[in-house]
Amino acid sequence: MFHHLFVCTGPTCSQQGAEETLQALQKNIEEQNLRKNVRVTLCRCLGQCGNGPNLVIYPEGTWYGHMEEKEVGRLVREHLIEGKILTRLAQIPVD
Ligand code: FES
Repeated sequence: MFHHLFVCTGPTCSQQGAEETLQALQKNIEEQNLRKNVRVTLCRCLGQCGNGPNLVIYPEGTWYGHMEEKEVGRLVREHLIEGKILTRLAQIPVD
């Protein structure tokens, strides 16, 4: 399945470690040979700053908060490869 990830690198998420998360994500995607099946797009603010670092995965439309660098290996393995949502980190966006 093809996945498109929107990773927030806005100011608040960056203060919460978004750059480290992004680097770990790109490294894991490369290591798992997923480059043809995963696109990563950076965005400036998803409006959920209090839960950062934030990212959203489509086509599922799953929002993840507190996506720290240490969680990325599990995210790639379980969500992107096995198709399982990490319920502990999944968020319902708040207006
Ligand atoms: S800066 Fe990431 S949600 Fe606002």
